[in-house]
Amino acid sequence: MKSGLHGAIVLAAVIVLSDASLEIRSQMFNVKTSQDVTQYEKVTSASCELMCVKECVERSHCDSCTYVSDSGECFQNVQTTTAAEGELKVYRKPPVCDQSNAVDYSIFNVTWRSSGQEGDVRCNDDDYIYVEGSPTVYCSYEGLWVKYLGTCRQRIWRNPTGSAIMYRFPLPVSPGWAMCIRGTACPACMKRAFDLKDNGDIYVHMDARFNFTTHVRKLIFNSYVGGVWGSGMTQDAFPFNNGQPFEMEFRLLTWDTMEIYVNSTLTASYTAPVSLASISYFFCSGDAFTGSELQLVDVWSGCDN
Ligand SMILES: *[C@@H]1O[C@H](CO)[C@@H](O)[C@H](O)[C@H]1NC(C)=O
Ligand SMILES: *[C@@H]1O[C@H](CO)[C@@H](O)[C@H](O)[C@H]1NC(C)=O
Ligand SMILES: *[C@@H]1O[C@H](CO)[C@@H](O)[C@H](O)[C@H]1NC(C)=O
Repeated sequence: MKSGLHGAIVLAAVIVLSDASLEIRSQMFNVKTSQDVTQYEKVTSASCELMCVKECVERSHCDSCTYVSDSGECFQNVQTTTAAEGELKVYRKPPVCDQSNAVDYSIFNVTWRSSGQEGDVRCNDDDYIYVEGSPTVYCSYEGLWVKYLGTCRQRIWRNPTGSAIMYRFPLPVSPGWAMCIRGTACPACMKRAFDLKDNGDIYVHMDARFNFTTHVRKLIFNSYVGGVWGSGMTQDAFPFNNGQPFEMEFRLLTWDTMEIYVNSTLTASYTAPVSLASISYFFCSGDAFTGSELQLVDVWSGCDN
């Protein structure tokens, strides 16, 4: 009876069986109480043997177990069988996963810990972030990483080119979200539009008018929702100097208010007529725009990161 036995785990036997070519090392543990497991834990980190003992402790009809290290099998020795406790199982050590098991290793990188039983998943490329999945993955009994449901999405674009650029955010925004744009203001252009939008609506349209129609050095804000432009807002403080570098940050202060910082100074604050929760793309265009004015667009981190 388990309750009649006390003390630390007894390493009852270390049996070496010779079977011609095969040598099987096994350890038998007489299992008594969960305190024994704690004690056992102190002296070894061999998780599989520990698991064998733990499983035995959890079943009152398991009196002892034998762990065979070569096969990784744990045989639980039974004296009486209680149907309610379910079947006794042979515990088998799961194979160790390694990085090459990772799905799409070109994108993901699993840093394994706990001897390959558990891993941290991240994107190989720091310009991408891992989203929509647990950053922790587990090694299955088949030796494959599981809980691998996430994906890598681009958040940083460097040295873009093109007459207009449009970048999608990796995740939906919420207050606290910030994006960073580093660039050099055009030397002799008329206008640059910076839009925060979804597929149809433009929630924040910031038109930097260097010199366009009657506007010289003006920032114009507006929203285009449901096919209609709002009343807009014009601001005299113009944060760009022709041909000079700038660092601009859009920061979502509340669900409807966007702040714009240039060179770390609050330059403008635009409160939109609708919630900004649906913005999911950054779009930039303008006359003679080639994209090459911009060195970096990070749609997921402020300029401090
Ligand atoms: C993947 O992770 C390993 C371990 O941290 C690291 O040594 C390796 O450089 C990483 N590979 C890439 C491409 O980031
Ligand atoms: C704006 O452009 C017009 C011509 O398109 C030019 O005559 C004017 O001098 C410019 N103003 C400034 C402030 O550059
Ligand atoms: C922003 O900073 C850069 C230097 O990093 C400077 O050349 C530029 O003039 C600044 N822009 C403004 C509007 O102060």
